[in-house]
Amino acid sequence: MYCRIMFLLLSLALVGCGTVPTNDTDGPSDLKNYDRTLYERLGTERSSLYDRLGGRDTIVSFVDVGVERVLVNPEIGFLFDNTDIDNLKFQLTEQICELTGGPCRYEGMDMESAHFDLDISAREFNALVEDFQIAMRQTGVPYRLENQVIALLAPMKPAMLHR
Ligand code: HEM
Repeated sequence: MYCRIMFLLLSLALVGCGTVPTNDTDGPSDLKNYDRTLYERLGTERSSLYDRLGGRDTIVSFVDVGVERVLVNPEIGFLFDNTDIDNLKFQLTEQICELTGGPCRYEGMDMESAHFDLDISAREFNALVEDFQIAMRQTGVPYRLENQVIALLAPMKPAMLHR
């Protein structure tokens, strides 16, 4: 009787062991997938948009060309009649540098205060964004990166529009 009980317990233990995954490929391949996902995620975050743009020099270039375009744009140029243009270019560069993950700190006015009394329309906002898009193309910024810069600026629209 004792032997029979021992045999039964041994059999149950063996069956129990059978339910533990013995197939090596499940575990390790899951881990490999996890590692790959993590690697890809870190891979995309490792280089900032700032670095992919080519750093500060690229931003200085397209801000320069963009602001010069804006100044001669009949739809919006007049809004900058009383503006210190060198300061505007500097502040824009700092702002875009910081937004894209570069080593800068924008310390200019907040967007609502800077544009408060300008009464900017959606049409005027779009005109400025278009000038900056063209400026990026003219200074050799790849289309994909151009879109990423615009995607960072677009959410500021509500802070600037007053009609
Ligand atoms: C996402 C779009 C825009 C960004 C990121 C932006 C950014 C800036 C920044 C950083 C400044 C300088 C603030 C300072 O002096 O501390 C500024 C000033 C100014 N912005 Fe914008 N801006 C945008 C859209 C516009 C639009 C659509 C207009 C007009 C059509 C405009 C007109 C001006 C003017 C006239 C000033 C100078 C104000 C002054 O002289 O005090 N901005 N903007």
